[in-house]
Amino acid sequence: MTMRTHYCGALRTEHIGQTVSVCGWVGKRREHGEHLAFVDLRDHTGIVQVVVDNLVDVRAEYVVRVTGVVRARPDGTINDKIGTGDVEVGDCTVEILNSAEPPPFPIDARADNVAENTRLQFRYLDLRRERMQRNLRLRSAVNSAIRRSMEDQGFVEIETPMLVPSTPEGAREFLVPSRKDPGSFYALPQSPQLFKQLLMVAGCDKYFQIARCLRDEDLRADRQYEFMQLDAEMSFADQDDIHEAIGAAVLAAAEAATGVRPDPIEKMTWFEAMERFGVDKPDLRFGMELTELTHIFAGTEFKAFAGAAAIKGICVPGRAEEFGRNKLDQLTDRAKSLGAKGLVWMKVSAQGVLEAPVAKFLSEREQSDLKERLGAEPGDLLLIVADSWTNACEVLGQLRNDLGRPPVHEGPYRYVWIVDFPLFVGVDPVTGTPRPGHHPFTQPHPDDLEKMETDPMSVRSQAYDLVLNGWELGSGSIRIHQPELQSRIFGLLGISEEEANKRFGFFLTPFKYGAPPHGGFAFGIDRLVAVLAGEENIREVIAFPKTQSGTDPMTNAPTPVAASQLYDLGLRVLPPATKD
Ligand code: AMO
Ligand code: AMP
Repeated sequence: MTMRTHYCGALRTEHIGQTVSVCGWVGKRREHGEHLAFVDLRDHTGIVQVVVDNLVDVRAEYVVRVTGVVRARPDGTINDKIGTGDVEVGDCTVEILNSAEPPPFPIDARADNVAENTRLQFRYLDLRRERMQRNLRLRSAVNSAIRRSMEDQGFVEIETPMLVPSTPEGAREFLVPSRKDPGSFYALPQSPQLFKQLLMVAGCDKYFQIARCLRDEDLRADRQYEFMQLDAEMSFADQDDIHEAIGAAVLAAAEAATGVRPDPIEKMTWFEAMERFGVDKPDLRFGMELTELTHIFAGTEFKAFAGAAAIKGICVPGRAEEFGRNKLDQLTDRAKSLGAKGLVWMKVSAQGVLEAPVAKFLSEREQSDLKERLGAEPGDLLLIVADSWTNACEVLGQLRNDLGRPPVHEGPYRYVWIVDFPLFVGVDPVTGTPRPGHHPFTQPHPDDLEKMETDPMSVRSQAYDLVLNGWELGSGSIRIHQPELQSRIFGLLGISEEEANKRFGFFLTPFKYGAPPHGGFAFGIDRLVAVLAGEENIREVIAFPKTQSGTDPMTNAPTPVAASQLYDLGLRVLPPATKD
């Protein structure tokens, strides 16, 4: 280093007496006495206090090089909030490398009250902040740990194309018009799925890629148009092999990011996750599990429960008092908006009596069984839903999360594989055919093959998700490598041979040339990094993300283009009113 001898955040008492040069940006400045000013000098490692002549005209965000002598701070001025708080740099010569306009928001302060649009418009300033520097570096550490782990396990990194054909399944694609062939389009890949399977046909054995994926879907806290996956595929491997390989990479990444080796990854069937937590991405950090109550009300007189396919409840410990009439109405509305017909709530009084308008409809035995099953204690709030099994599970699962889920930055980290997902979820409202749960190339569970035609909705698949603290980190499956089985699945999905060939032909033909058994997985790196960084939104761990509405306030993308560009592509834009 010729310009500097140390980073700002590195100076400690051991450097006292040394002449050092540090470079960075000017943060806070405080005038001291008649001649001196204290200036915070910042780089990506932290800040150090430099003491300068007060005639030196440095203002916020000026870029400077300071040479001076490290000395102990006088008693009473030690700052134990920063690593360099015991020392300061005195006798300084200040070289102004660049001046700066006043920034639109202070860089050193917490940015909680800065509008996100402003942060994104001036992202290069936002990224200067300590929290963002930490997030970017944590992400880099995660990426390199993933890459190291995959390489150590014998995976080969192979790039796949960004301009691919449009295929109809999954999320909406971004299209790229072809100039050479006006009217034809490439799609940007939603994932390297088809290509990685072809790499298995090609004999690559173990593939991985830190892959950019693009999906034109509505953006949320855990969704961006562009995101990164650790994408992997293995030949001659079963589910356990894949879980082991991916698990090793995830745990290595987590350890690199947090310094702590996480507990081994747990495993749970999809059915158990739904039964106990009401979601396929359970947050295992807290209790309030769903309890099965159907049998208690087998002969009930209570209209809302009589004859219900499933009755389930949760016990919210110690929170009865918090829920007045208003909050209970809100909770009921929430349950209804999630698809429940209603919500029964009950409070357990200090004497252990169930207090609720509906209590009088329940027999003594029903009430005591209910309390026992739910483990109800005085002061608890009980919530019960009677509905189809799916609705009862899903509504209570959501209420459980609403009422109990700790913030993302609160540990511990509970990783869990969810296995045995159903092969199909629901039916297409138009065609009446079942819809694939993962994608149509997913291998059914070998024990359920005979039920495929007779009872398709009960068929399990060899698809699995990795879940961390209620976030779906990733998904994968063992794929179908037998053309006959693939035709059978297409048949069930109502896709004719001709249509399958038209839609996926380039993908299906290779399977006639000796496809090995194979399977794989992909997890969202943005999501993993967000959880590890304690951030609720993946935008905080992406250098240049899009806003919720899909725009970039810094570059103004997306923007209209010149008429000549459209002409070259053979495109014409419809006026807004006639869109759709
Ligand atoms: P899937 O579609 O489930 O599977 O995606 C895998 C993981 O990618 C992440 N992810 C996203 N992250 C941020 N923004 C988005 N819009 C977004 N969409 C998905 C999630 C998700 O769990 N090819 C298959 C995997 C396979 O079968 O091998 C696939 O892409 O963390
Ligand atoms: P009703 O019989 O519709 O007047 O409902 C009586 C109470 O039971 C109300 O508090 C409803 O919210 C509740 N309720 C109605 N249907 C259900 C249901 N399927 N599951 C749980 N609670 C219900």
